This record gives sequence, structure tokens and C-alpha cells, in this order.
Amino acid sequence: MALLKIARMGHPVLRQIAEPVRNPISPEIQILISDMLETLADCGGIGLAAPQVHVPLRVVIYSVPGERMNAEGEDGPGVPMTVLINPRIEILGEEREIGPEACLSVPGLIGMVERWRSIRLTALGADGAPFEREAHGFHARVIQHECDHLDGVLYPQRMTDMTTLAFAEEARRYAAQAAAD
Ligand code: NI
Repeated sequence: MALLKIARMGHPVLRQIAEPVRNPISPEIQILISDMLETLADCGGIGLAAPQVHVPLRVVIYSVPGERMNAEGEDGPGVPMTVLINPRIEILGEEREIGPEACLSVPGLIGMVERWRSIRLTALGADGAPFEREAHGFHARVIQHECDHLDGVLYPQRMTDMTTLAFAEEARRYAAQAAAD
């Protein structure tokens, strides 16, 4: 196990199209997954894509805390830590939603991004077995954000209103002030 260094915006690996994984159960991929899990636990983020740790392969890990789902009006206990290998997203419906996003590769910042509200995800798990799930709201947003990393896209490239790009610390301070007023 090892903590991996996070690539930050400007590093070319974040602009690359990541390669599909040929053999999910190979020792190299299993080590990559366990190192990514350890790295994400250490950073305290919600998701991590392999290009963010300088590995241009189509691997993502993510989880969704229950309180984040519930805050967006979704029921349920949240989504446990999930490994996605060679994930594919199918858009369900035409509804889009604007919400805040942050990224370990764009530290300190937050911005509003429009995403599809509902998607169907298909991927291989860490055991190499295919699975699929539907995701809505914040859960769907997390998957779209992480899968964008596999295509060399960071959330600021998805933003349509750059005036919402802010330092998270300042955004929190002025949101708290506005709430108190
Ligand atoms: Ni990110």
C-alpha cells in the first residue's frame, strides 16, 4: 500500500484520454486500486480517477455519503465505496441540474457545473465482473465528474458561468454571512 501523489490542473496527464484496462484482476490493477483507496481516504475526497494519480487508465473510485444524497432530496443511506473499471455512462432523460463541484486536482476552488440529472452506469468491478446502476442528482454528478477525468476533462471546462468559480474558503465565509443576515 502507498499514498500516491495527486496531479494538479496543468499536469498533462489530466488532459490525456485514459486507456481501457485490459485485465482488471491483474496484480498491477489490484495494487493501483488499493493505493487509490488509501490515497482517497487520506485526502478525504468523494472520488478519485486514476489519471489524478498520474496513471492514464480507466479506473475510478467513489462513494457518496448519505447526508449528501439526502441534502439533494434523494433517499437512502448513500453509496458505499465503489470501484469502476472501464465505466460507461448512458444519459437518462433530458433533465440537467446545476450544482457545486470541487476537485482534488483543482485544490481550494469550487464552481457551479451543469450535469445530467439521471444516468445509467455500466462498469467492471474490482473483481472484473460487470455491473450496472442508475444514479440521480448528486450521485450522478459524482460519476460524471470522475468519468470526465478519464477523458481529460476537469470541471472548470464544464462551467458556463465563470463568475461562480471561487476559493472554497471565501465561498463558505460569505455564504455563512449571507445566512446570518
Ligand atoms: Ni476531480
